[in-house]
Amino acid sequence: MSPSSASTAGMNESCCESEKIIRFKANAIYGGKKMKVELAKGVYWVGAIDWNLRFCGSYNTPRGTTYNAYLIVDDKIALIDTVKTGFEDEMLKRIREIVDPAKIDYIICNHAEMDHSGAMPKLMEVAKKAEVYATRAGKDTLWEHYRKDWKVEVVKTGDELSLGEKTLMFISASMLHWPDNMFTYLKEDRILMSNDAFGGHIATHYRFEDEVGPLAMVEATKYFAVIVSLYSSIVQKKLKEIKDMGIAIDMIAPAHGVIWNHPGKILAAYDRWSRGEAGRKAAVVFDTMWHSTELMAREITRGIASEGVEARLFNLRTSDWGEILKEVIESRVLVVGSPTLNMGMYPTVGGFLTFLKGIRPPNKKAATFGSYGWGKGAVRDMNKALGEMKFELLPSLEIKYIPDENELTGCYEFGREIAREVIRGG
Ligand code: FEO
Repeated sequence: MSPSSASTAGMNESCCESEKIIRFKANAIYGGKKMKVELAKGVYWVGAIDWNLRFCGSYNTPRGTTYNAYLIVDDKIALIDTVKTGFEDEMLKRIREIVDPAKIDYIICNHAEMDHSGAMPKLMEVAKKAEVYATRAGKDTLWEHYRKDWKVEVVKTGDELSLGEKTLMFISASMLHWPDNMFTYLKEDRILMSNDAFGGHIATHYRFEDEVGPLAMVEATKYFAVIVSLYSSIVQKKLKEIKDMGIAIDMIAPAHGVIWNHPGKILAAYDRWSRGEAGRKAAVVFDTMWHSTELMAREITRGIASEGVEARLFNLRTSDWGEILKEVIESRVLVVGSPTLNMGMYPTVGGFLTFLKGIRPPNKKAATFGSYGWGKGAVRDMNKALGEMKFELLPSLEIKYIPDENELTGCYEFGREIAREVIRGG
């Protein structure tokens, strides 16, 4: 959408103008008019939109991302997180629409990774009186990244900071996904500012989940799969800890993507994903040399689908691996196919399993298959790698050279048996 086309259509002018606050809508963007995104009274989104980010850390981000920072204006003024280097001016412009950034009293650094702390050197030159709050690991990481003599107050779970009428409470979220991560909970408004957890890489002029629709959950699933899944047991502990603390959450405001204004949905999803629960689905991935393994993959996928189980087929050479991992999180069984090359698995399959090893989704089953010539090796290597990742291994299927009609029927039946495993899984 172009700024000009987006600046007028469909706005409820009287409502927004009278309240001096415009709840951000895609049809009401920065067309020269000052815009404020308010989560609750005195709580503003002041982040930045990175429309053209196409790779972040370890996976493709075809929809870009946002770096969400939140400004709380009370007797004291607090900024929760900042933005990536290069987006400082976008954030400062949004802050200036609300207050003079020199008046910021506190900068809460929920996470020192550069996409959230990169603006701090420039910000600290403007917000000269600001004190920084971070975990012990956050303080160390800020020093190791920037070598600046900032005043950093160390906080831990349960510590509180009064801003006047509003109170911030800090909750360690260590290893979700770095040692330094923490959540900041705004008690009076029941807003959990969770940094990376519950995030998703999606650039949009909409700020709230119910404005974006299903794409928000699509990107949150992919984000969980690639960034958070490895720490599933910690997610489970953290969800229980928050429940035991009796914290009521009306809104979850992460540092990437949409704000969850109906947080039950994403909380339930994190609980489900981190326990390894999945739908009646299987994901089939493969690479192929002379199309024999591809022929097998297609028949196996047909066999799975014939039992009423949803199956998606991915060629590893042409598919987005982040999208595949999202599918793995949503599937009960992962099926991996590789031809044998030099007595081992194909390099792309080896690369994918290395990527998967860094994610290790819990409570999944796996089956392997492949074509070989005069010597085997791919299935053996794939089973070894998947077993080390704690996948429950199902039977494998190997075929010499090119599968004939009988062997293709065998592939189909192999797929049907995988489907029965999916169905038995719940
Ligand atoms: Fe969004 Fe761990 O940084």
